[in-house]
Amino acid sequence: MDWAKVRTDFPILDRTFHGRPFVYLDSAATSQKPRVVIDAVADFYGRLNANVHRGTYQLSEEATEAYESARGRLAKFVHAEDPSEIVFVRGTTEAINLVSTSLSQTVLKRGTRVLTTVMEHHSNIVPWQILRSRGGPELDFVDIDDNGELVRADYDRLLTPSTKLVTLTHVSNVLGTVNPVRAIADQAHAAGALVLLDAAQSVPHRAVDVRELGVDLIAFSGHKMLGPTGIGVLWGRRDLLEGMPPAMGGGEMIREVHQDRVAFREPPARFEAGTPNISGAVGLGVAAEYLERIGWDEIAAHEQSMQRRAAKRVSEGFDGRVTIVGPKEITNREAVISFSLEGVHAHDISSILDAHGVAIRSGHHCAQPLMERLGVAALSRASPYVYNSPDDIDRLFDALGEVVRVFRGHERVSAKAPLPDLSPAGRQAR
Ligand SMILES: Cc1ncc(COP(=O)(O)O)c(C=O)c1O
Repeated sequence: MDWAKVRTDFPILDRTFHGRPFVYLDSAATSQKPRVVIDAVADFYGRLNANVHRGTYQLSEEATEAYESARGRLAKFVHAEDPSEIVFVRGTTEAINLVSTSLSQTVLKRGTRVLTTVMEHHSNIVPWQILRSRGGPELDFVDIDDNGELVRADYDRLLTPSTKLVTLTHVSNVLGTVNPVRAIADQAHAAGALVLLDAAQSVPHRAVDVRELGVDLIAFSGHKMLGPTGIGVLWGRRDLLEGMPPAMGGGEMIREVHQDRVAFREPPARFEAGTPNISGAVGLGVAAEYLERIGWDEIAAHEQSMQRRAAKRVSEGFDGRVTIVGPKEITNREAVISFSLEGVHAHDISSILDAHGVAIRSGHHCAQPLMERLGVAALSRASPYVYNSPDDIDRLFDALGEVVRVFRGHERVSAKAPLPDLSPAGRQAR
């Protein structure tokens, strides 16, 4: 694969910041968009824009056709049995909230339990806490070990007959850990629980086959996989979706409405109340095809080469002061490189890196329970993707070397010459 050519597909990467060529390493937050996706969205508005599923004129039929064919592409993308298993939503967060709101009316009642993990993004914790606060199911958390992997004994212990839903992330957005979803799902099913998978960080990087994973529902966001913002997918087993009540009511999702009663449509329409993000769905379909054209094996090999470069630079250059969290073996992790630099706050790191044209993210990464578990307030995270290269990883660690030098300078200054007293009293004294 000609990765330099792939990079030229992403116009935003031609920008410079602070006079330096741009190195974008925050794809776990959101990915950049290739020209084909940008063009597909513009083309929709320029040529196809009309509301879907209700027009009796040709343009509306064409818009509906574009929207529904995107659904078909996404169904193929995750190996769904049928396009009707694909529900378009705003993103992972909305998909999980849809599931929590819907299942709270059926299986997730008081006295039941939801089992999640300590490595989840807030979007897979807070919806369950909201149910709990309303008198719904209790919430349990599977712990992680020192390698950033789930403690299976904890899972065995916490999975009880009261557990009605196991919900976990496929890939951690902080640790990069790839969870053993199939084994977890099989065990959950044997215990009588449903399984919801947060695939926000896996779908952009690896082939996701919903049948092979053996889960009941998966959630993911388009914007992390080269697609537009405001569009994502909830996939569910057809028979499960058929038994789920809607989470929102409104237009598009009804069969008939009368003053005294309402009948809902079949899935997926039942879960898509209101005018959907039509152009977003079209753009997401194109993004899915773009990724498939590159190929998952190529993507995995490319991302592993960047992980290896990061590990090499850390081991060679920083006297043990840089620590990358998560599994040590790169075969069991995605290219999410979260790290700390001893003695330097994560926000200082990202500010100095920004001055070098390198964009990474620092903070709690919407995973505060995990930060508490790791005993850190914040981490810096570099998350490369298809448009990056090992050279970008070098730019990152060259700039991190600058951070070390800047802070070493500070230590010397403060040790030898205290900073001037700028208080009014201090100014008067000078
Ligand atoms: C693992 C994981 N789950 C869920 C989300 C939430 O995704 P969104 O904000 O697109 O709904 C993210 C986003 O960072 C994530 O990394």
